[in-house]
Amino acid sequence: MAALGITVALLVWMATLMLISVWKQIYSSWKLPPGPFPLPIIGNLLQLDFKNVPKSLTKLAERYGPVFTLYLGSQRTVVLHGYKAVKEVLLDYKNEFSGRGEIYAFAAHKEKGITFNNGPSWKDTRRLSLSILRDYGMGKLANEERIQREVPFLTEAFRKTQGQPFDPTFVLGYAPCNVISDILFHKRFDYTDQTGLRIQKLFNENFHLLSTSWLQLYNIFPSYMRYLPGNHRKVIKNVYEIKSYTAARVKEHEESLDPNCPRDFTDSLLLEMRKERYTKEPWFTFDNIAATIADLFFAGTETTSTTLRYGLLILMKYPEIEEKLHEEIDRVIGPSRIPAIKDRLEMPYMDAVVHEIQRFIDLLPSNLPHEAIQDTMFRGYVIPKGTVVVPTLDSLLFDNQEFPDPEKFMPEHFLNESGKFKYSDYFKVFSAGKRVCVGEGLARMELFLFLSAILQHFNLKPLVDPKDIDLSPSTIGFAKIPPRYKLCVIPRSGV
Ligand code: HEM
Repeated sequence: MAALGITVALLVWMATLMLISVWKQIYSSWKLPPGPFPLPIIGNLLQLDFKNVPKSLTKLAERYGPVFTLYLGSQRTVVLHGYKAVKEVLLDYKNEFSGRGEIYAFAAHKEKGITFNNGPSWKDTRRLSLSILRDYGMGKLANEERIQREVPFLTEAFRKTQGQPFDPTFVLGYAPCNVISDILFHKRFDYTDQTGLRIQKLFNENFHLLSTSWLQLYNIFPSYMRYLPGNHRKVIKNVYEIKSYTAARVKEHEESLDPNCPRDFTDSLLLEMRKERYTKEPWFTFDNIAATIADLFFAGTETTSTTLRYGLLILMKYPEIEEKLHEEIDRVIGPSRIPAIKDRLEMPYMDAVVHEIQRFIDLLPSNLPHEAIQDTMFRGYVIPKGTVVVPTLDSLLFDNQEFPDPEKFMPEHFLNESGKFKYSDYFKVFSAGKRVCVGEGLARMELFLFLSAILQHFNLKPLVDPKDIDLSPSTIGFAKIPPRYKLCVIPRSGV
C-alpha cells in the first residue's frame, strides 16, 4: 500500500514538473511569432507530415503568416516563409542568425569544420577556407580548367556504356568528386577506382538517409533514439568513415609537406596549423582540418552530382528542350571544342535550363537550419538565443508571382521575351548571407560545363514514353532526392 502511495506521489510530482516546464515554455515565449500550440514532449510534431516536411511548413505559413514558431519536440524553431522574410533574416540579420542548428547525425563535426560547426571556430575556419579556396581558383580560371580536364573522362565513361541502359549515379558522381578532390588533395579517381566508389557510396547513402522520416525524427529526439537500432546509426558510422578517410589524407600530406611549396588545400591548412602551434589555445587542430575537408568533400560532390542526375532525368522527359539545347550547343560550341565558361554569354537557353533545373528540383527546400546566436528583436518579436531558425528556400523558388506555374518545368522562367537570360533575385538555391554556400561559383560552373559537354556528345534516349517519366523525388527531408532511374545515351553523329 505504501509502495503504491509513493508511486502515485512520484507520478503526480513528475506530471506537475512537466506541466510547469510546458507552462514556463509558453509563458517565456509570449513575444515569439505566432504558431500552433505545442504539446508536452512532442511539441508540434502532429502538425508535420514527415514524408514532406517542407509542404507542411507551407501549409502552416498559410495559416500563421510568413514568420511562425514551431516546437520540434522541445526545440523552439522559427520558420521564415516567402521572399521578404527569408531575405530579411539572411541579409539584414546576417550576424544574429548566423549560428548552425544542430544536425545530430553530424555530432562528430560539432564545433569543427564549416557546415555543421556552431562553435566559436566556425567564423575563422570559414574565412580561412574561403581565402585558400580562392588561391586554388574557386570562381577563377583554375577551376574552369579543372572541370574541362575532367570532361573527357566523363564523356569516355558515357561512351563505354555503348548505348546500354546504366545507373548514372556514380558515373555522374565521379566528375564533381574529382574536381573537388583535385582542389583538396591534388588527386583524382579513375572511374573504376574502388576507394572513389566507396567514398561516393557513403556520400550518396548519407544524403539519402538524411532525407528520410527516421533521420528527421532522430534529429528531434536524439537522446531517446540514440540507443535504438536504425538508420541513424548507419549515417553516424558513415560520417566517421568519411572523416577517417580525410584524416588519413591529412596525415599523408603532413608527412610529405614542403612548407615552401603547398600542393593543395590540405597543405595550406596544415601550414596554417603550424603557424598556430605556439598560440595558447590553438583553434586550428588536426581534427578541425579533417572535418573541414570532409565538409567540402561531401558538399562539393553530392549536391552537384544529384543536380546533374536529376537534370538528365528532367531532360529525358522533355525531348523538345533537349533538342533546343543541342541546337544551341552546335551553333555556339560546335562538335569538338570542350565547353568554356565564356560560352555561357552566348548560350542563354542552356543558362536558363540549368537555373530552371536547380529551381525545379529545389535540392535543399528548407535550407540548412540556422540558429540565433543572441536574443534578437525581429519584426516586433523577440527570438531568444538558441532558437533554431529555418529560412525556407522553396518558398522563394516556388513563388507563383515570380515564377508563374511554379510546379511546371519551364526554362522560360529565366528567359525574357527576346530569349535573353533573365535574372531573378528569388533564385536563392545557394542561400545568402553569412552562411551562403561556399561552393556556389564552383557548382554553377560545373553544372553548365558538364551538362553542355554531355549534350554536345550524346542524345538522351528515354527507356519509357517521356510522358510516363515520373519526376517526383523519392524522399523529401533534408534534401529532395531524385527517383532511381536508368539512363541510356547514344553518341551524336559528327561528334
Ligand atoms: C548544386 C550545388 C549546391 C547547392 C544547391 C548548395 C546549396 C547550399 C546551401 C543551401 C547551403 C546552406 C546555406 C545556409 O546555411 O544558409 C550550403 C552550404 C554549404 N555549401 Fe553548398 N551547395 C552546392 C554545392 C556546393 C559545393 C560544390 C561546395 C564545395 C566546394 C559546397 C560547400 C558548402 C559548404 C562548406 C557549406 C556550409 C557553409 C557554412 O555553414 O558556412 N556546396 N550549400
